[in-house]
Amino acid sequence: MDIISNFAVFEGGDGSGTTTQLSLLKERLKNSIKPVFFSTFEPTDGQIGTLIRAALKKEISLKPETLAMLFAADRNEHLYGQDGVLERSGRGELVVSDRYVPSSLVYQGIECGDELAASLNSRFPAPETLLFFDIEPEIALKRLKGRPSSEIYEYRDFQEKVREKYKTFLGMYRDAGVRVAVIDASKTAEEVADLVWSELSLMPIMKKSENTP
Ligand code: TYD
Repeated sequence: MDIISNFAVFEGGDGSGTTTQLSLLKERLKNSIKPVFFSTFEPTDGQIGTLIRAALKKEISLKPETLAMLFAADRNEHLYGQDGVLERSGRGELVVSDRYVPSSLVYQGIECGDELAASLNSRFPAPETLLFFDIEPEIALKRLKGRPSSEIYEYRDFQEKVREKYKTFLGMYRDAGVRVAVIDASKTAEEVADLVWSELSLMPIMKKSENTP
């Protein structure tokens, strides 16, 4: 499996706090001169990602397989498009994405079977670092309760499967040479931010930079 240097991904079930942590990380890196930091996310805010979000919010109805293909199409643009993940990490930026291939292997693996999820994603290289935000689905879903609309995967049975399935893929990534860390996402946002920081500090690009906070 090819690995993209300078690229880290945050993964976890719904409500595990990946989005919050990415903004905290952005805040922490704001005052450092190096490395140049690019935070990004999937589904993206491009046209394909927007279509995906409409399906997640049940505004349009799509076959699970169609959605699996859209996630892969969105990812292809995200990765290989202009100023995309590959271009930025290749020129020495630290790129951190809220979700990537593992989300598809897990969520679409459950919905459409492992074979389709794996084949649609086989062309994409692995990240250098994978942080898995681990939390009891019950607690995670409670965090989402305050939000205005619920999405198609936000229910307990599905999220239990998601948590189990992530664990099966972590070993696969480790064996492929990806640095995998399990983060206890039940801790406070500040505590989790410290854990995230210490994991990312181990990336070679962070060691090269002198001005980290
Ligand atoms: P998420 O980042 O959690 O969005 P939000 O901030 O709106 O909660 O991702 C949206 C959902 O999409 C989430 O349930 C996970 C799912 N997802 C997949 O099923 N497959 C994928 O490949 C990706 C990237 C996300």
